[in-house]
Amino acid sequence: MIKVAPSILAADPLNMERDVQRVIDAGCDWLHVDIMDAHFVPNLSYSPALVEALHKRFDIPLDVHLMMDNPEDYIDTFARAGAWGITIHAEIPGDVPAMLQKIRDLGLHVGLSVKPGTPAEAIEHLLKDVDMVLVMTVEPGFGGQKFQSAMLEKIRRLREMGFTGLIQADGGVSLANLPDLKAAGLDVAVMGTAMYRSKDPAKDMQMIHAM
Ligand code: DX5
Ligand code: ZN
Repeated sequence: MIKVAPSILAADPLNMERDVQRVIDAGCDWLHVDIMDAHFVPNLSYSPALVEALHKRFDIPLDVHLMMDNPEDYIDTFARAGAWGITIHAEIPGDVPAMLQKIRDLGLHVGLSVKPGTPAEAIEHLLKDVDMVLVMTVEPGFGGQKFQSAMLEKIRRLREMGFTGLIQADGGVSLANLPDLKAAGLDVAVMGTAMYRSKDPAKDMQMIHAM
């Protein structure tokens, strides 16, 4: 079964509670929260205050994707705010293994993400330390971009390397490319535009869960 984590970036910022409630009612598994720092990616998004507000209001795992150069300074803050899982990027400066260990020590779900240009081989030595690999299927920074089908090979490669944890795809994921993603080895679909703009998210969610 593929899990669905709608990316809140595609929700209406003035109607976030309504939009989140809609995807929860439709049966989503996690909420994906994209944190952007305007350095690692050319965009700014949310602060820990949003994670805290979501945590207080909704009873659902908060899957926090840190698109930040210096996540080590914020892991504790996001954990206190109510993150269920934290994903950091492999491309950042600093001691990535130590940051993954810090997420682990806080008792959270540990994720490591790779941008499209980063090969699976670059994180092979870290696979034993993570619960999930997030394969970016667009350049991180903005919702609504086109899915890069070349990333299917990276997912297959991670499985060939023997990775048995969860594999998540993020960026341009839709009902159209999910069958290929599933065949490659996907477990968790981050869906922004496709889920928040869906006419019938419950029906979509059922179809995806049945894959
Ligand atoms: C991109 C973000 C994604 C994005 C996905 O940097 O990490 O989570 O919101 O949005 P869609 O599904 O619209 O591509
Ligand atoms: Zn994301």
